[in-house]
Amino acid sequence: MPNHAQRLEFPNPLPHIRAPRGENPGIVAGYFRDQAEANRGAAKAKMAKKLFIKSYGCQMNVYDSGRMADVLTPLGYESVDAPEAADMVILNTCHIREKAAEKVYSELGRLKQMKADKDDMIIAVAGCVAQAEGQEILNRAPVVDMVFGPQSYHRLPDMIAKLEGGAKNILDTDFPVEDKFDALPKVGGAGKGKGAPAAFLTVQEGCDKFCTFCVVPYTRGAEFSRPVEKVLAEARALAESGTREVTLLGQNVNAYHGEAAGGATWGLAELITALADIEGLDRIRYTTSHPRDMDDALIAAHGDVEKLMPYLHLPVQAGSDKVLKAMNRQHTADGYRALVTRIRAARPDLAMSSDFIVGFPGETDEDFEQTLQLVRDIGYAQCFSFKYSPRPGTPGADMKDQVPEDVKAERLARLQALLNEQAASFHASMVGRELDVLFEKPGRHEGQIIGRSPYLQAVHAKAPASLIGQIGRVRIIKAKTNSLEGELIAPGVREVA
Ligand code: SAH
Ligand code: SF4
Ligand code: F3S
Repeated sequence: MPNHAQRLEFPNPLPHIRAPRGENPGIVAGYFRDQAEANRGAAKAKMAKKLFIKSYGCQMNVYDSGRMADVLTPLGYESVDAPEAADMVILNTCHIREKAAEKVYSELGRLKQMKADKDDMIIAVAGCVAQAEGQEILNRAPVVDMVFGPQSYHRLPDMIAKLEGGAKNILDTDFPVEDKFDALPKVGGAGKGKGAPAAFLTVQEGCDKFCTFCVVPYTRGAEFSRPVEKVLAEARALAESGTREVTLLGQNVNAYHGEAAGGATWGLAELITALADIEGLDRIRYTTSHPRDMDDALIAAHGDVEKLMPYLHLPVQAGSDKVLKAMNRQHTADGYRALVTRIRAARPDLAMSSDFIVGFPGETDEDFEQTLQLVRDIGYAQCFSFKYSPRPGTPGADMKDQVPEDVKAERLARLQALLNEQAASFHASMVGRELDVLFEKPGRHEGQIIGRSPYLQAVHAKAPASLIGQIGRVRIIKAKTNSLEGELIAPGVREVA
């Protein structure tokens, strides 16, 4: 891993608004009041700057992108949907697999063309590629003005000031001592947007597990849990802004151990139980969990807390104990099977999801067969599966017996065929059932809206757009590959407080 010890000190730590680069703010004097007012309006319009953020990778990057936009709002930045006219473009990147990381450089190639026409455009690379590659990005893509990691984006105003003050470029991949969350503005709705029916809420960040294939402990740093009160306050603010569902985020979210009032430490089960008391918040989810951290209290919460949705993403990665050991997963295949049995005893209709890696170094055909067997034993609703991608600096990259690409491709195709079959039969089992759907946005067709079932399936139904943000009872009439089609049951709509 590159050395991340570099630390940039900024002389003026106060966030402040400046005119766009290359312009003088100018002085308004000697006008009638109306004229001055009009000029202020014009100056404000001129100051409004356009921000385009593109997120790659996991949900936490989506959450972080929302928070970056929050940080930049006081500086006059407004979010736009395309990079062309933007004054600032941030690529919030993912380093998890080689393909994910390389996407950034092709996007930077496109941005270089745009910047040729718009000289004062600021181009920033944020997120996990920024953290892992740091200076290399500036060397490889000189068009980049700023590189900063997932733990330093709250310092964006200072970075921009420094750039506007004449710095050639900015590199900030330090893990600062101050709490990023304390430095961020209060949330009025983050992640999927202000007042979005469903939003993300980061409660835990970083990872101490060091699976031998994974860059996350290096890019996100050591495990950290936000204090209970901060999480509850953010959830209340979200609920007040109209959010009905929160997904608690963490690279190891079920390792959550947040400081509570009176010096106590709460686990995720206690946090979920307290969140369930928030009026207006109707659904709670969490992701991503590690099998090692599914404690008794959390398992029990799946049976006891009605607002906790019956869907669990619990990555297993592989079905062979030999491979699991080489991956440093700290659990066996049978241990995982037994765990799922216990969680399903607490919540029998629980839909399970997982991540899989095929072709980890040393994986034989027999090992891979054990992965297929585990999939058959568990029965998943929906999964993510990947070919192993050796990541620089991780132990897996240096292991012998790397599996050839064509073998990985063939195994992935076989695994995905099985997973797709399971997903299709899970979807098909919903036909004829009545489900609660939280409507989130307009559908692709006129008169249609789309939302999520308790099992996280996309469900679309013909219904008025006024129901967006509400939970409706829907009868499922058709299962498609990636979604369900339903009809709203008249009168059907349960008003939620
Ligand atoms: N616990 C994390 C996992 C992040 S990575 C979280 O909160 O999401 C998501 C998934 O990417 C992992 O579960 C794993 O299946 C996959 N992955 C991680 N490193 C990988 C690598 N080097 N090659 C292929 N897939 C990888
Ligand atoms: Fe990566 Fe393993 Fe940590 Fe998940 S638990 S973030 S896979 S090191
Ligand atoms: Fe990717 Fe970083 Fe998330 S590597 S998966 S963006 S934690």
